[in-house]
Amino acid sequence: MSLPVVGFVGWRGMVGSVLLERMLAEKDFDLIEPIFFSTSNAGAKAPLFAGQRISKNEEILQDAHQTEALKKCDYIVSTQGGDYTNAYFGPLRAAGWQGHWIDAASSLRMDPQAKIVLDPVNRSVIDNAIAQKNLNWIGGNCTVSLMLMGLNGLFSAGLVEWVSAMTYQAASGAGAQNMRELLSQMGYLHQSVQAQLADSGSAILEIDRQVNQALHSDAYPKSNFRNTPLAGSLIPWIDVPVGHGQTKEEWKGGAECNKILGLPPFRESGSIPIDGICVRVGSMRCHSQGLTIKLKKHVAIEEVEQLLANANDWVKVIPNDRDLTEKYLTPAAVTGTMQIPIGRIHQMAMGPEYIGAFTVGDQLLWGAAEPLRRILRILLEA
Ligand code: HSE
Repeated sequence: MSLPVVGFVGWRGMVGSVLLERMLAEKDFDLIEPIFFSTSNAGAKAPLFAGQRISKNEEILQDAHQTEALKKCDYIVSTQGGDYTNAYFGPLRAAGWQGHWIDAASSLRMDPQAKIVLDPVNRSVIDNAIAQKNLNWIGGNCTVSLMLMGLNGLFSAGLVEWVSAMTYQAASGAGAQNMRELLSQMGYLHQSVQAQLADSGSAILEIDRQVNQALHSDAYPKSNFRNTPLAGSLIPWIDVPVGHGQTKEEWKGGAECNKILGLPPFRESGSIPIDGICVRVGSMRCHSQGLTIKLKKHVAIEEVEQLLANANDWVKVIPNDRDLTEKYLTPAAVTGTMQIPIGRIHQMAMGPEYIGAFTVGDQLLWGAAEPLRRILRILLEA
């Protein structure tokens, strides 16, 4: 029996590479005939991954600009970005292609013909869509997916009246070049005061003055962050402005969460208000979020913790303890893992229905690649 043909576009990028690593780890390639497409290197040999050749019959990179080649796939998994989706999805469908389109870009997320996938949270929405022959499956925005994985238990218990999410987003969310630039910035700042640091008697205010000078120097590497320093600072603006004083990243919190949960559209009656301020900070690939959750009624903290902890296999409640928080609830602790720790859980001073919490997740795993890997697997096994 021939295996379903799955075309991969954008597999060389950061999200694509993480996706392939995860697929190899979970032996997903045993179930498919993969075809690798390229936007720049068609005709070359499909490369090895971790020493393995995972292409089967087709060992040549196909042209990602050729609709005819794409049309032969039963599934297309694109991590190439929104421009590619915008250019190729419409023409493929117009040409009568009836395969499953899976991607990580925001272009199609709010399209009524597409579902945003995060199966530990919205498996019933996905199952209904499969029954209705839905063909378009889109991974959510990373902060949205990571927040919903963390707060899954409270949402599924129907306890959430609203959420304010203050985010601390990693450089990876802005792209691979931004991660490199963050490290260059750190190095530049360190170099600017290296001699004084080596002398334990040097004056800290003088060091600070020089670091500040370095931050504002023309030579400080910051072109990828729109000329705004990140290392030694932060940037309280992510993506373009939209209405209501929000950035697009902030709007996605409300718009996508409600769609994922199968609720009425954001800002309409019956939807859950979700809003906050999205901030870029100097971590590498883990997004963190400080959450204020207004519950519909008072629920004891122990019960809140239990609901959160039992919601899915990846969320881990971290007791509200200094040592445990420092050990388990930081980007350094979570990077490269599938765990979604949530901690600092406590009733807030505003009243018994107000819960404070903090959650961290790897932006490239649950924030991007894993929901795509899992929807492919769900569809293959449906
Ligand atoms: N928009 C996110 C960010 C990236 O800038 O961090 C992934 O959704």
